[in-house]
Amino acid sequence: MDACNKLFSPIQMGPLTLRNRTIRSAAFEGMSNNNDVSDELIDYHRKVAAGGIGMTTVAYASVSKDGYSFPHQLWLRNAIKPGLTRMADAVHKEGAAISIQIGHTGNMSSKSVTGFRPISSSSKFNLYGPTCPRRMNHDDIERVVDDFANAVRLVKSCGYDAVEVHAGHGYLISQFLSPYTNRRNDEYGGSFENRSRFMRKVLQAVRSEAGSEMALFVKMNISDGFKGGISLSDAQHSAKLAEQEGANAIILSGGFVSRMPVYVMRGEIPPAIMAYSIKNILVKSMLLLFGRTLMKPFPFTNGYFMDEAAPVLQSVSIPVVAVGGIDTLDTINNAFDRGYELIGLARCLIEDPAFVNKIRNKAIHETKCNHCNYCVAVMYTGSMKCYLHEQNIPQYLLNHLPA
Ligand SMILES: Cc1cc2nc3c(=O)[nH]c(=O)nc-3n(C[C@H](O)[C@H](O)[C@H](O)COP(=O)(O)O)c2cc1C
Repeated sequence: MDACNKLFSPIQMGPLTLRNRTIRSAAFEGMSNNNDVSDELIDYHRKVAAGGIGMTTVAYASVSKDGYSFPHQLWLRNAIKPGLTRMADAVHKEGAAISIQIGHTGNMSSKSVTGFRPISSSSKFNLYGPTCPRRMNHDDIERVVDDFANAVRLVKSCGYDAVEVHAGHGYLISQFLSPYTNRRNDEYGGSFENRSRFMRKVLQAVRSEAGSEMALFVKMNISDGFKGGISLSDAQHSAKLAEQEGANAIILSGGFVSRMPVYVMRGEIPPAIMAYSIKNILVKSMLLLFGRTLMKPFPFTNGYFMDEAAPVLQSVSIPVVAVGGIDTLDTINNAFDRGYELIGLARCLIEDPAFVNKIRNKAIHETKCNHCNYCVAVMYTGSMKCYLHEQNIPQYLLNHLPA
């Protein structure tokens, strides 16, 4: 079947039917000052919906008061229910479905932002925070599992069609899964069964709360991106675990924010651009001095996870979402040929929220995004923006963009 025919055919996953097979991949918008829903955030997702997406995913929403990394990141609580509801309504009016990515950043949180000492699977120092997290005890684990359930109850009452559990990229669930961060010797550490116990509990709580009305997506790693992280067998078992616990689809990604951040999106994240807007002198100097080492670049290639993900894809029978440079028609075709059922898109929609409609109308066959990762560098201190559409970029920043 021609890529376009498959791409624009509907798909059903549990209670959810999408008008086509495109999903706006969760990409932190940075538009949630005071951890709340802003008009800018609503407008961005409305535009993506109007641009033809099957389902948009609101990114990086913390389930807990100690689970976010930035003051401009969503924290799910009853007080923001009106904004969450308005966002779901705005997206539905444009004919798209809406999901929200829920998670806890664990050792990527900080006391200066949340007021709480960060928690993690173990107390291992995190240079990228920099943080020295507190090892979670059993009460902490039960409390965070409850926070996931409460978050689902909230978004369900606001009309969301799906939730996406963030189990990858080195955030809390991934900090339990990865031997790099999990140094426990109780029933939550050691074997894969133990390291995945927290993930299983979270998925059980989420599935139970989502019930038969909401679909469950799980974003997970095929690799942390370095030796000493999860193994391929761990990744295959995580995928099977998600399927067993009732996920309707999984999203295969990779990388670890506190060790190999660029592995997630490839290319390079320009340290000088990140440093430009950071006020903390220590963090700024660290970035300028060691940015290239801390954020090792990886070459961008289209569909960069697909080869490595093949054995994980083959280990499940639920639909799998391809993500990672799937922004040309040829790559989309390739993903369908390999057995993916859906396509996750991030940077091409930051560049152009109407990317999907333009592909459908045959106005374009690939993105204009050049994967310079300016959008990533600026999101840490402000909202996500594409440099191709920025006005009056200071010469200093232009000088530091990758060629
Ligand atoms: C600006 C930006 C922010 C991102 N934030 C998140 C996030 O909050 N959660 C997540 O799972 N992935 C995040 N990602 C990764 C994307 O979801 C996606 O996996 C990655 O960018 C590869 O897709 P792409 O090549 O279509 O951009 C982010 C990516 C970008 C560019």
